Amino acid sequence: MGDSIATLFQRLTQGVYVVGVAHGGARNAFTAAWVMQASFDPLLIVLSIHARHSSYVLLQQSGAFSVNVLKKGQLHLAAHFGQAASADKLGSVAWTEGRTGAPLLRDCLAWFDCRVVSEQPAGDHVLALARVIDGRLLDPEAEPMLYRETGALDGASALFPERFDGA
Ligand SMILES: Cc1cc2nc3c(=O)[nH]c(=O)nc-3n(C[C@H](O)[C@H](O)[C@H](O)COP(=O)(O)O)c2cc1C
Repeated sequence: MGDSIATLFQRLTQGVYVVGVAHGGARNAFTAAWVMQASFDPLLIVLSIHARHSSYVLLQQSGAFSVNVLKKGQLHLAAHFGQAASADKLGSVAWTEGRTGAPLLRDCLAWFDCRVVSEQPAGDHVLALARVIDGRLLDPEAEPMLYRETGALDGASALFPERFDGA
């Protein structure tokens, strides 16, 4: 049943992103699906991040992150950045530094550079609300990757409950 709830939630349409963070010479990036626009004026984006990710320390220290939109066909990047940061995940890809200092992938569909304005605990994650201060569309012809296309990459089916709590 946990599997079927996981499958159901994969129909909530989400993209797949590489979220970049940097502070004091250290940098990291991780794969995220839980990213969405939250406001037009000002332009706000919200990211749901697990507080135990090593990226979260750098996000808190810098008060910033980048959102790099993956294209269809970049599943290898979703898998690579979905690993825990035992090695330098950014060492094997080309990137540049955004205005906030967060890493921006050179080969992706688009990127956003964001400054955190507030944080809110959300169950087992933390919502980081951030102002978009810069952004660029790198490949207007490309289709964005959908979360559903990542299949079992994030092991999420083990994290869903067996059944709905109808209380
Ligand atoms: C397809 C996919 C989507 C993911 N979405 C999120 C997400 O939205 N938020 C999150 O905190 N972690 C998400 N993760 C998990 C992190 O990418 C993963 O735990 C990563 O190892 C964290 O890296 P870090 O410890 O180097 O920061 C996702 C992983 C995958 C493969």
